[in-house]
Amino acid sequence: MNARPLFLDFRSDTRTRPDAAMRAAMAAAAVGDDAYGDDPTVLELEAEGARLTGKQAALFLPSSTMANLVAVLAAAPGADTRLVTGTDTHIARFESVHRLGGVQLVAVAQRDDGSPEPAALAQALDDSREQPLIVSLENTCMLHAGNALDAATTQRLAGLARQHGAHVHLDGARLANAAVAWQVPVRTLAAAADSVTFCLAKGLGAPVGSLLCGSAAFVDRSRELRLELGGTMHQAGVVAAAALVALERLPRLADDHALAAELAAGLASVPGAEVAAPPRRTNIVTVRMAGLDAAELQRRLASQGVLVLPLDRGHVRFVVHREHQAAAVPVVVGALAGERLAPVTAGQPASSSR
Ligand SMILES: Cc1ncc(COP(=O)(O)O)c(C=O)c1O
Repeated sequence: MNARPLFLDFRSDTRTRPDAAMRAAMAAAAVGDDAYGDDPTVLELEAEGARLTGKQAALFLPSSTMANLVAVLAAAPGADTRLVTGTDTHIARFESVHRLGGVQLVAVAQRDDGSPEPAALAQALDDSREQPLIVSLENTCMLHAGNALDAATTQRLAGLARQHGAHVHLDGARLANAAVAWQVPVRTLAAAADSVTFCLAKGLGAPVGSLLCGSAAFVDRSRELRLELGGTMHQAGVVAAAALVALERLPRLADDHALAAELAAGLASVPGAEVAAPPRRTNIVTVRMAGLDAAELQRRLASQGVLVLPLDRGHVRFVVHREHQAAAVPVVVGALAGERLAPVTAGQPASSSR
């Protein structure tokens, strides 16, 4: 058996690497110049993105951060626009749409499932005093242990936003995971939103890229904004080809979710461990240990070769993706318990590698 070292880096699903099939597709990609709109592989990817999310059109961008920024700029009619989103969304915590996009950020409380608290959302919308509004939802909810929201929740919140004339944006950096977790088409979860960011470079495994999807007019405006921001990529078909391979593999995310569930159960068995239990888990597991802060916990795991990211309130996060194997679970559980284990490889007979 060809043993290879276990992949114990759980920091992010952005750490997937293109495999041989993806690299072959990249090498063979037909290209043009996307600045001129004649890159056939990008056009194919954008058509596929529009179909997948059920929107009229899609735009290929370098990252989800840029897709969110372009979405806000495209939707905001003026500097008095208010962007309402949960306090723990990626947009509120880690992006600068308010600074770069010139809009006012209004952060509202979230429920345990990661959706905005309806009363807090309603209050923020009532307070808007005729100012233009954008409401941004996130699915899955990264800082809420990757919980997947269902279509009914999104529809309810979007309905509330629309009563106030808001543009509804969905940061679906991991919308593919949410769709797989609910066993519904991506477009079912995207239906309530006017615009959707759909990341290709997280669990789907493309090396780079995100799609911003919406009406034809919205995407036309977004295309102009992408150019102004310097986000237009020329022979982008090379990376779009990898993204098309990634989309074919979308159903495979179920494997990551199953492994994340296994990891969560394993970690919960360690005395003193508290594993967050989101209502609908996807590929993220967060855990804290009694008596350890997040940095100490991160160091304990790192001393065993297990890499995680520290979060709030003592939690660290594991993000499971296609590089991970079931044989990693006992290693990670042992590392959390502070045990010293011999190095394990995926090919050892005791493992149940995927
Ligand atoms: C929910 C969410 N939105 C947006 C992003 C930004 O993605 P990117 O790294 O492609 O800019 C992330 C990144 O982790 C994310 O988790």
